[in-house]
Amino acid sequence: MPELIPVLKREEIEELTASVARKISSDYKGRHLVLVGVLKGAFIFLADLVRHLTIPVKVDFVRAASYGSGSISSGDIELTKEIDIDIEGQDVLVVEDIVDSGLTLTYLIDYLKKFNPETVRVCTLLDKYERRQSRVKVDYACRTIEKGFMVGYGMDYDEAYRELPEIYHLKF
Ligand code: IMP
Ligand code: MG
Repeated sequence: MPELIPVLKREEIEELTASVARKISSDYKGRHLVLVGVLKGAFIFLADLVRHLTIPVKVDFVRAASYGSGSISSGDIELTKEIDIDIEGQDVLVVEDIVDSGLTLTYLIDYLKKFNPETVRVCTLLDKYERRQSRVKVDYACRTIEKGFMVGYGMDYDEAYRELPEIYHLKF
């Protein structure tokens, strides 16, 4: 059985989310911000993030499927849900649970730029840098970690553990 090692407690996640929401609210004041959550992993983080913002935003989602073996992204990415909102001339903030190789994000940014947004930036709860393969810029990272497979708070392993309110390192 894999072991679940606690990494971030509820209160820590709450503080990190509130803090990044303050920065985003200040940076985008008076702008037209569209948050684009990356399904499925980002659904809980996005839901908590919007409730800490003090500016109006629009919310949309994409779903990116990557075909790789096991827990590493292959870079062979397909969108199984595209955006619905017209983002032309808008400020877009991609909201991710965790950035690993960066390949998904690179693909998504290229996709979003085709719709002529004013800006495209990235906010992630966790920035896991050890396996980064792409030079993608993460504008808002709540917490950086070196490595390890994380679950809980929306993040899964084979669709399990998403419902856990705290974040754990899944150790095999
Ligand atoms: P990347 O393309 O390698 O950056 O991977 C991005 C996606 O893979 C994330 O949005 C997650 O959905 C998933 N992923 C990467 N690392 C983890 C992890 O440690 N736990 C759960 N999902 C992960
Ligand atoms: Mg994700």
